[in-house]
Amino acid sequence: MTDRYAVIGNPISHSKSPLIHSSFASATCQDLAYTTVEGPLDGFEAAVRAFRDGGGRGMNVTAPFKLQAFAMADSLTERARQAGAVNALKFEAGRILADNFDGLGLVRDITQNLGAPLRGKRLLLLGAGGAARGALLPLLDQQPAELVVANRNPERAAELVAEMVAELGSPAGLRGGGFAEIGTAQFDVIVNATSASLKGELPPLPAAAFAPGALAYEMVYGKGLTPFLRLAQNAGVARLADGVGMLVEQAAEAFAWWRGVRPATREVIDQLTIPLK
Ligand code: ATR
Repeated sequence: MTDRYAVIGNPISHSKSPLIHSSFASATCQDLAYTTVEGPLDGFEAAVRAFRDGGGRGMNVTAPFKLQAFAMADSLTERARQAGAVNALKFEAGRILADNFDGLGLVRDITQNLGAPLRGKRLLLLGAGGAARGALLPLLDQQPAELVVANRNPERAAELVAEMVAELGSPAGLRGGGFAEIGTAQFDVIVNATSASLKGELPPLPAAAFAPGALAYEMVYGKGLTPFLRLAQNAGVARLADGVGMLVEQAAEAFAWWRGVRPATREVIDQLTIPLK
């Protein structure tokens, strides 16, 4: 029998997940169907249970339900617990298992697809919302020399860093605050995890923050040259990336978790890539 999976969100019609997972399934000869579920804003849990009770095996979870998925899980992985959000569910023996592959997808995209190792590097993470929170632990796991979290609201960044310190002791080089925290420092990798680009806005980032040879990484995907990427380009940064690779890599992690086989990602990333111009 064909196993059923879906992505749940609201809105959901623009999701690329069905295309990605169908490509993975045919490449790995897995018999599965992957669809979308538009979760009612006041009925997320009921929609998940209905999908599971109808024979569903797992779901991806996207905005605005990642916190509700966290709350309804029977079992959370360590990284989902730390992120405070869930983007993948697996239904097993009457239990709802939950994980969050967003941060792992980001790290895989940067280190493997873009060939930028993070160990010993200077990283700057812009934002302190859900997207930044999910990225923090996987980025720290790479043992950068420095990881600065800069947010418009400085308290929010300080809070996120304090939580991480409480969790891990004091990870070397981790600090956070407002954009003023950046000062004249330079970074090898700058990740924009704010939602500014979705509104066509530019975080107040000094152009001089990009070290020579730096990578500018925009988590938003499919929007071409966002204000952040344009700032980087104007500052002479040659390595620009949007979040399409992160999207495909987190999908591959979920697929491997569900099916026990890890699909190749290159072809699907190429298929979904919109040139940055
Ligand atoms: P997400 O889940 O996408 O991270 P979120 O939790 O609402 O969404 O967080 C949005 C992030 O983008 C926050 O870090 C927000 O900064 P504040 O905490 O100061 O609100 C940041 N953000 C949104 N618009 C921004 C802008 N124009 N400039 C800088 N940061 C911005």
